[in-house]
Amino acid sequence: MRFFLSIPGLVAFAGLASSLPPRKDAEMSIVRRQEAAAYEYHTIDQPIDHFPHSPRYEPHTKDTFKQRYVFDSTYYKPGGPVYLYIGGETDLASRFSNLQTGIIQILMEATNGLGVILENRYYGESYPFNTSTTDELAYLTTEQTIADNAYFAQHVVFPGINGNLSAPETPWILYGGSLAGAQTAFSVKTYGDILFGGIASSGVIHAVLAYPQWYDPIQKFGPSDCIASINKIVDKIDQLIQAKNTKAIQELKEIFGLGPLSDLRDFAMTIAFPLGGPMNYPTGTWQELNWWPAYTSNDFWNFCSNVTNIDAPESITSVDYKLAPYTGGEPWTDLGKYADYVKKVIVPLCLSGRIDSTDPGCFSTQNETFYADVTNSAARSYLYSTCTEQGAYQVAPAYGPSLILRVLQVDYTQQWCTWAFPHGKFNSITPTPNLTWYNHYGDLNFKADRLAFIDGNQDVWLDVCYHSNDAPPRFTSDLHPEYLIESGGHHWDSYGIKNITGEPQFIREAHLWEIRTVKKWLATRK
Ligand SMILES: *[C@@H]1O[C@H](CO)[C@@H](O)[C@H](O)[C@H]1NC(C)=O
Ligand SMILES: *[C@@H]1O[C@H](CO)[C@@H](O)[C@H](O)[C@H]1NC(C)=O
Ligand SMILES: *[C@@H]1O[C@H](CO)[C@@H](O)[C@H](O)[C@H]1NC(C)=O
Ligand SMILES: *[C@@H]1O[C@H](CO)[C@@H](O)[C@H](O)[C@H]1NC(C)=O
Ligand SMILES: *[C@@H]1O[C@H](CO)[C@@H](O)[C@H](O)[C@H]1NC(C)=O
Ligand SMILES: *[C@@H]1O[C@H](CO)[C@@H](O)[C@H](O)[C@H]1NC(C)=O
Repeated sequence: MRFFLSIPGLVAFAGLASSLPPRKDAEMSIVRRQEAAAYEYHTIDQPIDHFPHSPRYEPHTKDTFKQRYVFDSTYYKPGGPVYLYIGGETDLASRFSNLQTGIIQILMEATNGLGVILENRYYGESYPFNTSTTDELAYLTTEQTIADNAYFAQHVVFPGINGNLSAPETPWILYGGSLAGAQTAFSVKTYGDILFGGIASSGVIHAVLAYPQWYDPIQKFGPSDCIASINKIVDKIDQLIQAKNTKAIQELKEIFGLGPLSDLRDFAMTIAFPLGGPMNYPTGTWQELNWWPAYTSNDFWNFCSNVTNIDAPESITSVDYKLAPYTGGEPWTDLGKYADYVKKVIVPLCLSGRIDSTDPGCFSTQNETFYADVTNSAARSYLYSTCTEQGAYQVAPAYGPSLILRVLQVDYTQQWCTWAFPHGKFNSITPTPNLTWYNHYGDLNFKADRLAFIDGNQDVWLDVCYHSNDAPPRFTSDLHPEYLIESGGHHWDSYGIKNITGEPQFIREAHLWEIRTVKKWLATRK
């Protein structure tokens, strides 16, 4: 799914799709803005293997690893709850804003709570091993990850805080967005006797192999003339590909400044970057939009206003006629402006100029050596989880208009998995992700007491969330609360500005609902 945890603020300079962290969960500019404000890092000795009897983890280990966390007791008063923000697919620092201005700050202030962020195993500095071979990655599974949450809640000691705040004596309430939202739901369901409750925001609880619906909100809500132009250009390119017109395809690649890019799917991925995916992308997309101007990325709007610019010079618009001879004389409306944007904004990210390579920022993914590098990284850990459990490969739709070329199918992403994770001695990946690891927790029939689901109806990940278009109608109750934010994006409720009154109303109402929900739960313990 998901989701280069999308750290677009960083991405813009990171380059190559495949070298980027997976894009599920954008924190964008907030990351850089908040890097300065630090918390003291602590660690807990966490068992690497919580399941000494499961054949899945043979041969077992009794070792522990140092798992990092930070906490904020600014608002804490004895008797208050603990809010555990689930770190998900990124390092701790990129989550600090949740304690400072975001949802945890909001909930702590409302209920005298203490906030803590736990770094996900195999991210940041919470790696059990020095490298990430296929064997070493065997303990990067959903069940081990959520067992960390329960163990942490039972064993953590907060330095400088009087009293014992461990679960279940103290109510622990989890919060996670995106992948971490799913982990929140799985944790509360599995360890309901330890963890008091949770809020799963845009929790991607439904695993699928192919996920063409990622593009649906863009297709539906993007500027319609821009979207229609992309759809028509994509159709025309697909016709050339179907006709195997290699001469025309080469001319097309050159129009985009991507002449040397040999694999057609790499070309398809690169011209899709302004829209997003598959898996990674170097600039902001629909997913990186945000309700607060300081947190948003305007890249997507800039892209569309370039594509539809009615004042573009003739030197650019004349390009629309270059390939007309291949389409019965019909011009390729807006091709010149689309290609001009890619040439200006995307192509220069390949700093070495080796377009057809996996150099940082460049556009090839066809390099087994590159994927086989076992150096620890968020991108590698995220790819592993995608390849083994999560899936949701971004592909072109089977029918109807498309924003990406139809050569982008499951095999393209699966190839990266196969290259990255060759058979180990003890562990090997399945030919495609085993979706059961995820879906057996409940899938779209998910239910657990004091577990709230909150989603956004314009989120690219909506259809793998609780409020998916494929899910039955949802009804809320205090024990099983749910909320769909009208016009909301990917876990937009996690962001805040330390002034609820100053928020736009559709976000303010969601935050007030979250406060009421948590207060009602806590009242039942009194
Ligand atoms: C991992 O790296 C650390 C620090 O460089 C080193 O002390 C340790 O021996 C290494 N462990 C293994 C198993 O190689
Ligand atoms: C905190 O309380 C729990 C449950 O009573 C207990 O198991 C645990 O050992 C205590 N932790 C500390 C550090 O005293
Ligand atoms: C085109 O995109 C660039 C880069 O994002 C942006 O600075 C510029 O304003 C856009 N131009 C138009 C006409 O929208
Ligand atoms: C393939 O990857 C290796 C390892 O990262 C790198 O040294 C090499 O330059 C890459 N080759 C191409 C053509 O990208
Ligand atoms: C897929 O996962 C399920 C449990 O989640 C397991 O029972 C099954 O053996 C797995 N299949 C493969 C091929 O690993
Ligand atoms: C919060 O926002 C409201 C509405 O915009 C504004 O009137 C108020 O001054 C803000 N409060 C703070 C502390 O910034």
